[in-house]
Amino acid sequence: MSKFAIEVQGLTKSFNGKLAVDQLDLSIPEGIICGFLGPNGSGKTTTIRMICGLLKADAGQGTCLGFDLFKETRNIRKNIGYMTQKFSGYHDLTVRENLSFISRLFSIQNREETIDQTLEKFALTTRQNQLAGYLSGGLKQRLALACCLIHQPKLVLLDEPTASVDPSARRDFWEILYQTAAQGVTILVSTHYMDEANRCQELIYLSNGRVLAQGSQQQILHSSNIFIWNIYSQQIDYAYKILKKIPLIQNISIFDQTLQISSKHPKAGDLTQMILHKEGIFATVTSHPFNLEDAYVHLIAQPKKIYL
Ligand SMILES: Nc1ncnc2c1ncn2[C@@H]1O[C@H](COP(=O)(O)OP(=O)(O)OP(=O)(O)O)[C@@H](O)[C@H]1O
Ligand SMILES: [Mg+2]
Repeated sequence: MSKFAIEVQGLTKSFNGKLAVDQLDLSIPEGIICGFLGPNGSGKTTTIRMICGLLKADAGQGTCLGFDLFKETRNIRKNIGYMTQKFSGYHDLTVRENLSFISRLFSIQNREETIDQTLEKFALTTRQNQLAGYLSGGLKQRLALACCLIHQPKLVLLDEPTASVDPSARRDFWEILYQTAAQGVTILVSTHYMDEANRCQELIYLSNGRVLAQGSQQQILHSSNIFIWNIYSQQIDYAYKILKKIPLIQNISIFDQTLQISSKHPKAGDLTQMILHKEGIFATVTSHPFNLEDAYVHLIAQPKKIYL
């Protein structure tokens, strides 16, 4: 097997003549948790489905766990776990029956014992006879993850796995992901949550079906080359109207009584202070540390690939 769990070049897919994934190159090393970020419709699910061998690319090439994306899809499907964006378990089956069904599909040996261990590991033993359709959002996702991992895959593809999960249940979910990764399993997880992005060793930012940036958190933060300031003022609405017109400011957002601005220019904070002062607005401008959410907003606003 190559040292990359996933390696694809030029992967392309259109639906009804509209590009969903556009000449995508990806290299995801084995054994890491990799976050897959991007706006709605940027092509995350389509990419994941092509990597799984569930959707055939129009063009490109690549391997998943060393298996060819086009010729060895059966081997890929046997060795990966895929958790779909919407709950794909059976609502009319109990928790145990869902696990039993999946373990039959994968011809798992010692089926009942494996199911018992899985129920225990995912804290679902007391729920095993409950219909999946009546589980809470958090438990449903935990069952979906259990179904995804029961056959001990080497690579797990999770498509927004915690979209309807409360913060506490999300922490439990990530605890299981860390335990799984510690066993050498590669995890690709798509998410819109920046706290989840913070938990990943490597990040891929996607927009309009293209990779905008790929690298570690530090690489992404250092390469973005953007500065952020917080502006406190009693006249926040007026300040917003003024600053909105200044081309030097790349992005402007309101957080309660604070405006946050970003710019590529290191002196944009001083300049903002001067402009507001000239307009008769009293404001305090302070520099703000740059984080992954800022990097996301910046990258999406300026779609050009950054090589790290
Ligand atoms: N089966 C399909 N038929 C037609 N268009 C599709 C199909 N699947 C995806 N698309 C289109 O391809 C583009 C990429 O969609 P995709 O679901 O991959 O994005 P995404 O990044 O997963 O979005 P989200 O964050 O909303 O889940 C979108 O414009 C979508 O409408
Ligand atoms: Mg999606």
